[in-house]
Amino acid sequence: MCGIVGYVGKNQALPILLDGLKRLEYRGYDSAGFALFSKGNFEIKRNAGPVQGLVDASLECGKTETQGIAHTRWATHGAPNETNAHPHRAGDIVLVHNGIIENYSEIKTMLSREGVKFSSQTDTEVFAQLIEFRRREIAKKSEGATAETILLNAMKQAMTEVEGHYAIVLMSQSIPGKIFGIQNGAPLVVSNLKTGALIASDLQAIVPYHNEVCFLPKGEIFVADETGVKLTSASNKGLSFEKIDWTADKVEKAGFESFMLKEIFQQPLVVADTLTGRLPVDQKSSFIWDHQKAHEVLWKNVKRLYLIACGTSSHAAMAAKYFFERWARLDCQIDIASEFRYRSPVFEPGTVVGVISQSGETADTLAALRLANQAGVSTFSICNVPNSTIARESGFQYPTKAGPEIGVASTKAFTSQLTILCALALDVARLRGLQDGKESVQASFTGLARLPQDLDQVLSQSETFMKMGETLKDQRIILFVGRGTMYPIALEGALKFKELTYLPAEGFAAGELKHGPIAYIDPKVTVITLAPKDEWYSKTISNLEEIRARGGHIITIGTEGDEEAKRLSNEFIGLPQSSWGTQPILSVIPLQLLAYGCAKALGRNIDKPRNLAKSVTVE
Ligand code: F6R
Repeated sequence: MCGIVGYVGKNQALPILLDGLKRLEYRGYDSAGFALFSKGNFEIKRNAGPVQGLVDASLECGKTETQGIAHTRWATHGAPNETNAHPHRAGDIVLVHNGIIENYSEIKTMLSREGVKFSSQTDTEVFAQLIEFRRREIAKKSEGATAETILLNAMKQAMTEVEGHYAIVLMSQSIPGKIFGIQNGAPLVVSNLKTGALIASDLQAIVPYHNEVCFLPKGEIFVADETGVKLTSASNKGLSFEKIDWTADKVEKAGFESFMLKEIFQQPLVVADTLTGRLPVDQKSSFIWDHQKAHEVLWKNVKRLYLIACGTSSHAAMAAKYFFERWARLDCQIDIASEFRYRSPVFEPGTVVGVISQSGETADTLAALRLANQAGVSTFSICNVPNSTIARESGFQYPTKAGPEIGVASTKAFTSQLTILCALALDVARLRGLQDGKESVQASFTGLARLPQDLDQVLSQSETFMKMGETLKDQRIILFVGRGTMYPIALEGALKFKELTYLPAEGFAAGELKHGPIAYIDPKVTVITLAPKDEWYSKTISNLEEIRARGGHIITIGTEGDEEAKRLSNEFIGLPQSSWGTQPILSVIPLQLLAYGCAKALGRNIDKPRNLAKSVTVE
C-alpha cells in the first residue's frame, strides 16, 4: 500500500525520490507526490495516477534541491485525486504518512473548532494540522527554545493524541537540512549513505543505494540530516544497522516483460535457495534450522497448531494442514487472519501459532500474531522479507528465501512457503517419532531434493500454458477444482485468475461440485481440474465424467502419460509425477501461467492489477 521515500544530503534529491517511488509502485497506489525543500520554502507536486505522470510533470523541478520527501498513496480516506495525494502542507510543515489514524474524525472536529481549515478529506492532513497546531501552541509557551525542540515536542504531543498504526515523515520550513519522522507500527527503513540519509517505507527503495539498513523501532521519533539518522528518544538508543543480501539487480526485471513473469521463472532457483543448507543427509536426521534447539523443544511439546495467514499465504497454510495431519498426526487448524483476530481462539498449553506472510507486514496477520503473543503461546513465522514486523515479533522464524517479490500477485513466495511447510512438517513428524512406514514421507524427501529440477521441467512448457490461458478470455466463468492437497491449489489458481484477469473464477473442493457449483456448467464454462495420479485420482476422474456429461469445457492438469484423463478432457497438461508433499508445488505453476496468458491477452496490467496492493498494511 502507501509508500514513503525521503532523502537529505549532498546529492540532488529529486532523482532519488522519484526512483524510490518507482520502486515502491509494486505496493499498489493511486496517486503520488513529493515535496522539495527549496529556497526556504517547499516545492510540492502531486499527481493522481501513475508515478510516471509525476515524473513527466517534474521535468523542470529539483535541479539543485538536496532535501525532500515523497509518497505513493493507496486511498483509504477520500478519493484518489490530486487534492488528497500526499504530501500535505499545514503551516510550517509538510508531511507524508502511511497507515491509518483511527480517531482522525474526533481530532478534525477539535481542530475545526479551533479554526483550522482543511483542504483534503484525508486522515493524513489531520495529522499534519495537529502537529502544526501543537507546534504553534508550544512555541508560544517556550520562549528561547529552538525551532527543532518545539517541533519535536509537538510531534511527541501529537503521538499521545493520535490512535492507530502509522509512520510519518515530515519537513519543517523553519528547520532546513533536516527530515523528521515517527515510526509507530508502520515500517520505516533508514540507511546512512556517504552523501546523506535515505528513509523509506520499504527495502526496495533503499537497496539500490546501500545494503546496510536499519528498521526503525516502533514508537520512536527520528531526525535525519546529511550526517545520517538519529533517534530522539530520551534513552537515545543507537540504531543498529545490518547488511541485507537483497541487491539492486534483484529488484529489476532482468529482461522479462514483467516482474511477475520473472518471478514465475525464478521459482526453481528460489526453491533451491530456500532449501539450501536445510535438507538433512538422510530421512532419520534433522532438517537444519537457524534455531535448532528451540525448534526441537517447540515441536516435541506441541499439541495443537494454528496456521494463520491471508490470501495466497493462507492457501499455503491450507496445503500444510494435509502435511501436518498425515505425517505428524498433529491437530492443525487453519484460519484467515482477519477472522482469527476477532474470534475467541482457544489457546491451551501446547498450542503453537504459526503465521505465514510474504511481506511480513499484513495488518490482519500481524494482529493475529500479536493476539497469540499476548496469550503467551509459542509463535513462529514464515516470512519472505527479512526483518519485517511479523518476522521480528514472532517467537522464531522459518524464512523463505524468495528474494524481493514485486509482482502484486504472489508466485515465488507461495512456492517457497509450500517448500518450507513441507520440510517443516516432515521434520515435525521425525521429532514426534512418526515418520516410519509412511511411503509418502520417503517420497517427499526425495521430491524436495529434486524439486528445483522438476520445476524447471514444468516451466519448459510455459508457452503452451500461456497460449492455453489466452483461449480462456471469453469464458463466462472459470472453475478450479481439486481434492486433498490439490484443493488449496485450486483455490490459489482461482485467486491468481481473478486477480490478474478480473474475470469470474472460483475454486472448489472437487467433491463439493455436486453440492452446488455444478449448476454453473455449460459450454461457456471452463473447469480446470487438478487430477494428478494420487490417492484421490479415481474420485477426481469421476468428477471429470460429471462435468463432461454436462458439456463443460475441461482442462486437466494431471500426470504425464495419463491417457484416461486426457481422453476425458478438452485439453490436458501432463506434469512430472512428483511426491505427495511436492506435487502441489509443481501443480500451481501451470495455473500461474494460464492466468498470466489470459491477462496478457486481455491487456491487463499484470504487475499491478487494479485495486490491489502488494503489502496490505491496513485492515
Ligand atoms: C495474492 C496475494 C495476496 C497476499 C495476501 C497476504 O496473489 O499476493 O492474496 O497473499 O495479501 O499477503 P502476505 O503474504 O504479504 O501477508
